[in-house]
Amino acid sequence: MIPFNHLGFVFKYFGSVIYPKKVLEELCIFLEPLSNKASVLDVGAGTGMMSELAYRCNSELRYVAVDPANGMLKYAEDYVEIHIATAEVLPFDDDSFDAILMGESLHHFDDPDVAMKEVVRVLKKNGKLFIYDFDKGTFMGKSLWAMEKLLGEPAHFYEVHVLKKMLEGNGFTVEVSNHSWRYTVSATL
Ligand SMILES: C[S@@+](CC[C@H](N)C(=O)[O-])C[C@H]1O[C@@H](n2cnc3c(N)ncnc32)[C@H](O)[C@@H]1O
Repeated sequence: MIPFNHLGFVFKYFGSVIYPKKVLEELCIFLEPLSNKASVLDVGAGTGMMSELAYRCNSELRYVAVDPANGMLKYAEDYVEIHIATAEVLPFDDDSFDAILMGESLHHFDDPDVAMKEVVRVLKKNGKLFIYDFDKGTFMGKSLWAMEKLLGEPAHFYEVHVLKKMLEGNGFTVEVSNHSWRYTVSATL
């Protein structure tokens, strides 16, 4: 297993290099329709990297982060409300959030199907979901998948069309962007 609880410093100071500029632009476009003070949940937030990037797009939103590793969460910025929890059991009421972000975290969840049901539960009607992750349909994606498997990680890497179908099955309308061996998904309930 990857010892995330001890890797907070690394992710805090080097984590953003894995985010291409185009992904940041897409994140800002994704957030544009939200009204000020809308609530955004960062799932598998780690050090709150996605929240930090999103804050650069809109500093008026309410940012909430969940992650099981306190050693990651403790590096989150002050404007991020943190909760130690997993994606499979989100500690929030139904219809709590306007948008949910997942940056390089979906493939680490123990059970992405259960996590997706939780996402649907805590999202408001017409809520939005942004996912950035690695594409198993590419050579690099497959290599990372194999490496994570060796490390004992769940490694739920998706081919984008499989993830799209899974999200549509959960009631989302889905738009996909490919970034070489990575992808973003912008989805609306
Ligand atoms: C590669 S890090 C990504 C962190 C952050 N989103 C970023 O972009 O820097 C993956 C994160 O997923 C978290 N994680 C692992 N299992 C999880 C689960 N079941 N539910 C939620 N988060 C989980 C890990 O603790 C870790 O912080």
